[in-house]
Amino acid sequence: MQHRDEVLLERYAIHDRTVLGVRANFIASLDGAATHEGRTRGLNNEDDKRVFDLLRMLSDVVLVGAGTLRAEGYQELRVEDPAAAWRVEHGLPAQPVLAVVSGELNLRPEMAAFARAPVRPIIFTHRHPTVEKEQDLSRVADVTVCGDASLDPRTMLAALAQRGLRQVLCEGGPHLFGTLIEADCVDELCLTLSPVLENGAAGRIVAGAAQTSRGMRLGHVIPAGDMLLLRYERAR
Ligand SMILES: NC(=O)c1ccc[n+]([C@@H]2O[C@H](COP(=O)([O-])OP(=O)(O)OC[C@H]3O[C@@H](n4cnc5c(N)ncnc54)[C@H](OP(=O)(O)O)[C@@H]3O)[C@@H](O)[C@H]2O)c1
Repeated sequence: MQHRDEVLLERYAIHDRTVLGVRANFIASLDGAATHEGRTRGLNNEDDKRVFDLLRMLSDVVLVGAGTLRAEGYQELRVEDPAAAWRVEHGLPAQPVLAVVSGELNLRPEMAAFARAPVRPIIFTHRHPTVEKEQDLSRVADVTVCGDASLDPRTMLAALAQRGLRQVLCEGGPHLFGTLIEADCVDELCLTLSPVLENGAAGRIVAGAAQTSRGMRLGHVIPAGDMLLLRYERAR
């Protein structure tokens, strides 16, 4: 591991893995845009990617909304060999688990995120899926219903914890993040501030949820070229 990565590892380390922790990781432009032409590519760079990968290495489960899975063309979740080795050395399974949140279940078993997954993913939904849909997706993932009219984030997090998946990394997107904030389930936000003025109609890193307001405490600021790697924690 390079010195720079060791410094990052120290700054993002999880000190107590027995306590449930929900960490979100996002990137935004200086003027608050969460996307450039509909995706995060164009906002991020190598320094942000380093943190993105590190946070995956540290997590038990990577939680992502179906919209992000589709828009960003998620492939199978697989940390690289040195990260897998680090995980094993630290008593973790070689690979974290992918968990996808979807109401409509517009997901296909052939999607690489499922078909090539090194660890069986989980799909959280809140409607009782049709038998065909459930059978179809159950070939490649554990389909779990959490809530009825809407997704119940606390039930979802409890289901993860029951599987021993306590360190949750939410990679978005904005609708899922809004749901988690609304239920007061977010403990930490890792936010990369990208030196771009994006303008236009791009949305923020939250969408769709009711207005709530909660203070956060600054954990760290790491300048990386013109980018800022920020970490905020729940204010206690
Ligand atoms: N800046 C960043 O760091 C960042 C990070 C991630 C994503 N993004 C961008 O965000 C955009 C996608 O935004 P988005 O808001 O559509 O993302 P999203 O939250 O990942 O996806 C929304 C979809 O995910 C499912 N979903 C999310 N929350 C749900 C809930 N509470 N209950 C039930 N289903 C839920 C639904 O899927 P179904 O339609 O299947 O029901 C919903 O239509 C993309 O352009 C992506 O590039 C940016």
